[in-house]
Amino acid sequence: MKLLTVVGARPQFVKAATLSRAIARHNAAGARPAIEERIVHTGQHYDPNMSEVFFDELEIPRPAFHLGIGSGPHGAQTGRMLEAIEKVILAERPDAVVAYGDTNSTLAAALAAAKLHVPVAHVEAGLRSFNRAMPEEVNRVVADHVSARLYCPTATAVENLRREGIVEGVEQVGDVMYDGMLHYRAKASRTILGALGLVPGGYVLATVHRAENTEPRPLRAIAAALAEAAAVAGAVVLPLHPRTRAILESESIVLAPAVRAIEPTPYLEMIALMASARAIMTDSGGMQKEAFFLEVPCLTLRGETEWVETVACGANRLVGTDPASVRAAFEDIAAGRLRADFSSRPYGSGHASEDIVESLAAAFAEGAR
Ligand code: UD1
Repeated sequence: MKLLTVVGARPQFVKAATLSRAIARHNAAGARPAIEERIVHTGQHYDPNMSEVFFDELEIPRPAFHLGIGSGPHGAQTGRMLEAIEKVILAERPDAVVAYGDTNSTLAAALAAAKLHVPVAHVEAGLRSFNRAMPEEVNRVVADHVSARLYCPTATAVENLRREGIVEGVEQVGDVMYDGMLHYRAKASRTILGALGLVPGGYVLATVHRAENTEPRPLRAIAAALAEAAAVAGAVVLPLHPRTRAILESESIVLAPAVRAIEPTPYLEMIALMASARAIMTDSGGMQKEAFFLEVPCLTLRGETEWVETVACGANRLVGTDPASVRAAFEDIAAGRLRADFSSRPYGSGHASEDIVESLAAAFAEGAR
């Protein structure tokens, strides 16, 4: 049985790595059908430290196809991907196409496959922010509606799909990022703390990259919020997405001296930075969950989240971009008022990737279709 996995952006490399390992285990155990996985990298992320470094350190099999699409406006970028992915699907004739999450690479993979009547397996299906202004929301809604197999991380995701009339092919398997964290946590590269002169608990780790947050106005507010955080925690470490760096520079937004902008960080170093932070401030979806897995308080620089379980248990607070909300949140952290119940297990038991592989094997084995 042949799977074509399409990835393109940083968070997808982490998710795909986990599934590739589960496929390798399935094959090594002699389970049937044997699964051949061919990886397509769209090239949505192309800077070496946004892409290559992940393939190296996460031991992801090399992509069989590198489409080299690069950046561009949404329509142009997605359109170029569609055309290129279609060619690969026609040449490879896979039994299914596997797509992850909510990026333009996900949308292109799902559409290209569905149009060629190749079943789409969507990993991280059913997530909703209910904010259609986000490109990711449009991508995930469309991807879910053309998918044959929908692998949901949470009960909320299953319910979101049910409300949209999608019940066939839906399975709650848990979150592949939780599987990944259990695997990579032991490999976290702590040398970065020493290299940056950081002590555990002595800094806040922040990331900002969302389209809505990298407009000049919200980015100015976030810069002020980061200054608030640095004043309380001593320092903020800010691995900078290339787009965020570009807007900071073009708009001459100056970061407070205690806010240290660094290059995008390899994953194993990022885990170490997250695990030892006093708190995490982010607009990333993945980091909200990683903060939860590592039991570090998270302040989300958005008005809503797809990962509602982290908020419900008190581990995550939606602070938007308002510096006053950030200051209030840090006062609550200092006073021990941001208390979380990390014992709830909303993201599964760490076997999501195995369950997905076994489900795919059963669904697409010869004769099963
Ligand atoms: C994409 C995803 C987002 C995900 C994020 C992870 C979409 C719509 N968004 O956002 O959901 O959370 O990846 O990082 O797919 N750039 C570089 N080098 C790179 C990549 C990007 O310089 O290797 C710059 C380019 O100027 C580009 C901009 O960043 O135009 C935005 O990149 P893009 O891939 O379009 O979206 P992300 O913001 O990374």
